[in-house]
Amino acid sequence: MSEATTRPVEDLALHEGPAPPARYRGEAPGLTQRIENYRLRAAVVENAHLARGGAIPDDALGLVSSDALRLGGHPHLIDAQVRTLRGDGPHAPTSLVFLGEDSPQRRFEARIADFVGMEGAVLCQSGWTANVGLLQTIAERGTPVYIDLHAHASLWEGIQVAGADPHPFRHNNIRSLARRIRNHGPGIVIVDAVYSATGSVCPLADVTRLCRDTGCILVVDESHSMGLHGNRGNGLVAEKGLLGEVDYITFSLAKTFVSRGGVVMGPDRVMEFFRFESRQAIFSAAAPLPHDIAGMGAALDLVENDTWRRQRVTQSAAWLRRELGVLGFDTAISQTKIVPLVAGSDLEVLRLLVALEQRGLFGLPFVSPATPVDKGLIRLTVHCDLLAADLERVVDICREARAELGWPLPFAGTQAAAG
Ligand SMILES: Cc1ncc(COP(=O)(O)O)c(C=O)c1O
Repeated sequence: MSEATTRPVEDLALHEGPAPPARYRGEAPGLTQRIENYRLRAAVVENAHLARGGAIPDDALGLVSSDALRLGGHPHLIDAQVRTLRGDGPHAPTSLVFLGEDSPQRRFEARIADFVGMEGAVLCQSGWTANVGLLQTIAERGTPVYIDLHAHASLWEGIQVAGADPHPFRHNNIRSLARRIRNHGPGIVIVDAVYSATGSVCPLADVTRLCRDTGCILVVDESHSMGLHGNRGNGLVAEKGLLGEVDYITFSLAKTFVSRGGVVMGPDRVMEFFRFESRQAIFSAAAPLPHDIAGMGAALDLVENDTWRRQRVTQSAAWLRRELGVLGFDTAISQTKIVPLVAGSDLEVLRLLVALEQRGLFGLPFVSPATPVDKGLIRLTVHCDLLAADLERVVDICREARAELGWPLPFAGTQAAAG
């Protein structure tokens, strides 16, 4: 791969630099220390090709985007957006609280709620504000909130904003969750359907059963499953037949739906209250504009109609996870389009990143706080346009990278046995 893509690992600043001066402008001493700590951890991300501003070369494989169905730039989306921009007259941004019943926003909300199978929906500025706004709306000071340790940062933020009591439980561990509920009483349980760093899937049937038995309210973030799971792409909760058991579903539209926005879904009564209670609905006017919403609607058309895209992602991801597992990567933690190449320490993540980029494979590096410390990884995201030859190339590159880094390779014959 081209010289420009990577620098030798030895050049990379993973060591401590000179001691910082006593005082930087605008920084109290505590902030200076935090920035120095961040600079060490950020070395991995800073040295990643994409973070340095490089584009993925034409002859390389980019498995970096959450656009798994490859809807970005689809003519159906662009036409819908342009038509709306040209035909609908000027639109000034306004707060959610002021949007009328007949606005494009409210029509999209009705459509998405119907598509997923929930009673009501509210369209928000982002997945982040959807989660923070929801927790701020449904939790109160002192409410016990049980949250999976790997749940998305926006959900933790929501707990903090609400002043509720967080009780984290071990990742995907029902016994740990049950113990916490026993100790602190009924409250709100929060999980992601699919976890963004490793692609692990929540045991939703067990979680819903426990919530029912203990009288807990359940929030599921479907950012990485909406559009990809479920018969119609309507999510993992629907796929598992658990719609009646889940109180709230949220998701980011910045993944499969390639749009700027987020959705909160739940009972109509609470959704109505959300519009008047969540602070970003009242105090932020940066709501999606009609042409944004036209793009979301067009993306939803494609999610509903182009089933082949979803099927291709599922098949390709299953093949890739199996083959990379045979090579020695711990891919069994994922059952989704997210294929994690777990490397370990920040330095190992960086070494693997460089080895892959030099051979023309681009993934996204994840280190603490996005993963537990020393469980850093490169995230590959499978998309529907990958051909069999592309997938084989990914495996070849990963095999060569392991050999270069001196990581154990499979015994001869293992691969054939694994089929
Ligand atoms: C699981 C999950 N929830 C919420 C979000 C936040 O969504 P957005 O990027 O739309 O703010 C993300 C995005 O990174 C996510 O991965």
